[in-house]
Amino acid sequence: MDRIVVQAPSGAYNIHFGRDIWQQVQQMARGYDQALVVSDKNVAALYGHRLPFPISPLEPGEGTKSFETIAALVDDWAERGLDRYSLVIALGGGVVGDLVGLTASVYRRGIAYVQIPTTLVAQVDGGVGGKTGINTPRGKNLVGTFYQPWGVFIDPSVLSTLPDREITNGLGEVLKYGVVNDPALFEVVRGHVDAFYELDLEVVAPVIRRCVEIKGEIVAADERDRGLRRILNHGHTFGHAIEKAAGYRHNHGEAVLMGMLLEGRLAHLLGLLSSADLAAIEDALFRVKLDYSFAHLDKGEMISALIHDKKNRKGSISFILPREIGRAEEVLLSVEDVEKYWDEVIRG
Ligand code: GLY
Repeated sequence: MDRIVVQAPSGAYNIHFGRDIWQQVQQMARGYDQALVVSDKNVAALYGHRLPFPISPLEPGEGTKSFETIAALVDDWAERGLDRYSLVIALGGGVVGDLVGLTASVYRRGIAYVQIPTTLVAQVDGGVGGKTGINTPRGKNLVGTFYQPWGVFIDPSVLSTLPDREITNGLGEVLKYGVVNDPALFEVVRGHVDAFYELDLEVVAPVIRRCVEIKGEIVAADERDRGLRRILNHGHTFGHAIEKAAGYRHNHGEAVLMGMLLEGRLAHLLGLLSSADLAAIEDALFRVKLDYSFAHLDKGEMISALIHDKKNRKGSISFILPREIGRAEEVLLSVEDVEKYWDEVIRG
């Protein structure tokens, strides 16, 4: 049995890997009076039959991460008689994981839940670490909690049903782990980007495992995102601004990849990153199936989004910039600094 233990300060839990996770979830569920799977309709149709429990299906898509869905889930769970001896199983991508995690954290003041992430981005990032959330008209993930799952179960073979765009979405986070933490991982992914689109599990499964190991270590050191965990925000400052300025037409990982390109260039212009490392980062990013064009982004809207970024501190914009491949640090910049480098950062 392949597993990693996450030693989160609020409690340790296991992350299990492999095709036999479906049996392991069932084994765990035997310790509870009842279990319920919450999934989205697409994922439920593909994988729901692998678990012998009732399923609560949700509409797919980011619009489901709302107060209304929480209220509906709470009603559903209460009608089914879920209590503190029940287990909720979040089967799906980031939307399902965030929503179920948040609802589990408040329903009856907290009940047990596990994650079975079914997208690349959820397997390497969202499914691990206990960040939950919903969106409101005023912001993405504006309401959320830190609530670690009782376990995470990852079967990389389910990624075979994902479209290329979803693989690109996850590759943003995968390359990010390499750039901020692990040069060897970076080189493996850089040399095998095609293996992700072809789902060559010999390459992909160990990469997912390594990303999860890195995330687990970071969460153990800084569960509540006050210090070290913030390095996971590399690419996210420009990335969030891109998502916002482009009216959310890019998915999160696409925006992170574009953000990593801009933040890599910014780090180089600031004298923090060597030309060779920037060239390697650009090479890796350009192997991913993504159009890195910035012509549709309005500078004013981007700057306004940067000014309102929730990570900002002391009136400055917070960037996590690479110092070399495998090491990144927070750099606080003024709006004037960003404007000074703007043209070169965008044009490359
Ligand atoms: N997605 C970044 C984190 O979990 O901290």
